[in-house]
Amino acid sequence: MTVQYPSTSAVQPHALITPPSGGPRPRLTFLGTGYLGATHAICMAELGYEVLGVDVDESKIGKLADGQVPFHEPGLDELLRRNLSTGRLHFTTDYKEAAEFGDVHFICVGTPQRPDGMAADLSYVEAAVTALAPHLHRKALVVGKSTVPVGTADWVAQLVARNAPPGSEVEVAWSPEFLREGFAVEDVIRPDRLVFGVKSEWARSMLYATYKGVFELAAAEDREVPVVVTDFATAELVKVAANAFLATKISFINAMAEVCEAAGADVTLLAKAIGYDARIGKAFLRAGVGFGGGCLPKDIRAFQARAQELGVGEALRFLHEVDLINQRRRARVLHLAAELLGRPFGPAGPDLAGTRIAVLGATFKPNSDDVRDSPALAVTKALHKTGATVTVYDPQGTDNARRELPTVTYVSSLNEAVRDADLVCVLTEWEEFRHADPEKLGELVSARRVIDGRNCLDPAVWSAAGWEYRGMGRPAVGRQTAPHTSSPETA
Ligand code: UDX
Repeated sequence: MTVQYPSTSAVQPHALITPPSGGPRPRLTFLGTGYLGATHAICMAELGYEVLGVDVDESKIGKLADGQVPFHEPGLDELLRRNLSTGRLHFTTDYKEAAEFGDVHFICVGTPQRPDGMAADLSYVEAAVTALAPHLHRKALVVGKSTVPVGTADWVAQLVARNAPPGSEVEVAWSPEFLREGFAVEDVIRPDRLVFGVKSEWARSMLYATYKGVFELAAAEDREVPVVVTDFATAELVKVAANAFLATKISFINAMAEVCEAAGADVTLLAKAIGYDARIGKAFLRAGVGFGGGCLPKDIRAFQARAQELGVGEALRFLHEVDLINQRRRARVLHLAAELLGRPFGPAGPDLAGTRIAVLGATFKPNSDDVRDSPALAVTKALHKTGATVTVYDPQGTDNARRELPTVTYVSSLNEAVRDADLVCVLTEWEEFRHADPEKLGELVSARRVIDGRNCLDPAVWSAAGWEYRGMGRPAVGRQTAPHTSSPETA
């Protein structure tokens, strides 16, 4: 067989083949119905495929089967209910049922950071593959989607070969996923590219058949979805390289924010100016409290760990700096809080006892209820440790945040959070906060002081309403400082 790479061809009709189940389109299973698997399962059903979502967590499967998405993702609830009612989408905890149903089985389980180091924990991948493989009595394609260290696909192929019944001819492929929380439906249905890591023509053709719905939608909208066909290792690396690049871009602008703070410059204008250069681009240059979430932080650490194993740790040493810059931005908020509240910053941090701080935002980014490695929540925890009374409001993330950090007070509205506050900290750029009226909020607080941890407010408008404003990497605005004259760069 010949693997063609790199290739950026659109759908190739000659490559479409009959799936082992004999139907017109392959039947798909998604092993793991967390963020990645559930979103994918629902969206592929929406594109007309027969889909089975599989998970060992009965309560999660129960909720999904009942029409409830267990996390917040705009638009997904409606798609879930619609596709359950068409009968195309089902959920199960039974791997045997999954094996009998599917032509293509997507591995979508989590690969979290190991508790004992930086590397990825592959135990869920192993569990899913060894639970499925013994039941695969006919030809099928097992496709990895989870983010994994390079070399995992070969290991999965060995696991399958060892555990599948003799003669079942199961093949493995790797097709990483680039979906962003908050835009996940769009990212699955209208991906900007697909990557197929394959070892045979059959696997390649099955992947084309699997994504036929995506190609058809693109053609109907006069778009093309580029496909890059690669070997296993390249497909695995594409995902971690993409996330490492994005993390680096964010830490780059946050490093510039540090310099701007020392030099009295404004990083938002700097980002705007360098972003006009098409080689740099304006995306992912928003300085603030840094990146978090279930992907970027753990992926850059696992990538470093894997590079060390491969003897090329030095090549990724910069990612350690990227991580450190990211952590330092969280600490910056404490310095600003001490400064605004007129408290000294000792070796153990500031003593903010007796002050009341309103925190707006707990999730790692807006339009999500995800608080994994959230900068907002980490800063909240640190503020709480200073002795301040911290009150948090987040439009979607309160339940998850309370589980992570039960010691602070959570309220259910913006107004409640800021009432009598000595300081307001905006740590996630929810629309509700970006468009809050500083005049009205000013009537509720005990002192008009705000830290804009996401540079999402207009300093001129807030200072005009009498607020002392501190952004990230931008000049202080408000009392005792010269007024800020530039227009703000909001996210
Ligand atoms: C990321 C990748 O973007 C996606 O391709 C991959 O599949 C999964 O990981 P996600 O974790 O949903 O997606 O979030 P993303 O939008 O990338 O943001 C990550 C973090 O970076 C957030 O905390 C966000 O607030 C922060 N960020 C992003 C910045 O601080 N500045 C920016 O300019 C952009």
